[in-house]
Amino acid sequence: MEVLVLPTPAEVARRAAEVVVDGLVGAGRPEPVLGLATGSSPLGLYAELANAVAAGRLDLTHARGFALDEYVGLTPGHPQSYREVLLREVCAPLGLPPERLHVPDGSGVDEAALVAGAAAYERLLEGAGGVDVQILGIGANGHLGFNEPGSALSSRTRVKRLSDRTRADNARFFDGTEEVPTHCVTQGLGTVLDARRLLLVASGVAKAEAVAAALEGPLSASCPASVLQWHADAVAVLDEDAARLLR
Ligand code: F6R
Repeated sequence: MEVLVLPTPAEVARRAAEVVVDGLVGAGRPEPVLGLATGSSPLGLYAELANAVAAGRLDLTHARGFALDEYVGLTPGHPQSYREVLLREVCAPLGLPPERLHVPDGSGVDEAALVAGAAAYERLLEGAGGVDVQILGIGANGHLGFNEPGSALSSRTRVKRLSDRTRADNARFFDGTEEVPTHCVTQGLGTVLDARRLLLVASGVAKAEAVAAALEGPLSASCPASVLQWHADAVAVLDEDAARLLR
């Protein structure tokens, strides 16, 4: 794995954007596929990618975007649903046509519908030829996507319960922890590992422990992001705070 440590989050965003542009352009595919994370970590990167689009170094008109995960049970159009977040943060500023954005379906009315939606998402990803560059953030508990500690390393897209820690961490996007959904649909760790390139972005001391466990700890379901060590083309772009516990 390549680990790049940069002084500031702004530099992390710029360097990570170069990795994405190289990966998508280098894929040489007429319809390249970008794997999209939500949360705070990739926001600077998305802003840098918007600059690359404006400068003519990147064109997502014919690309496809696949989200890592989605909450279960939010009302359609809820501003914190990951579909809405990605429409705002990626489709509009980067010129990715909304109909080319794919997000796991968290609207199923019961478990059978959610399970069927998850299987359909796997088929859609496969039909698109897989992900060329997968953007990833990391949870403070080492989660990747919404694969919480204990997730099977070979898992595929499925319904998961969110941990109390993750619901508390994400309460900042809602009116309190009670409003954060209890379940999600997330790509599995096996699904994530199928991407041709993985790009982890992390900034800030709050991520230092998880980053050290993921990059230098044992490959283990107790730190789902440790699967990065298993991938042949994984890049971690970190600021000095996030990297401070690396040896
Ligand atoms: C979201 C996702 C999560 C986040 C993680 C970090 O799509 O996949 O794994 O990347 O929870 O969130 P932030 O970046 O908000 O600290």
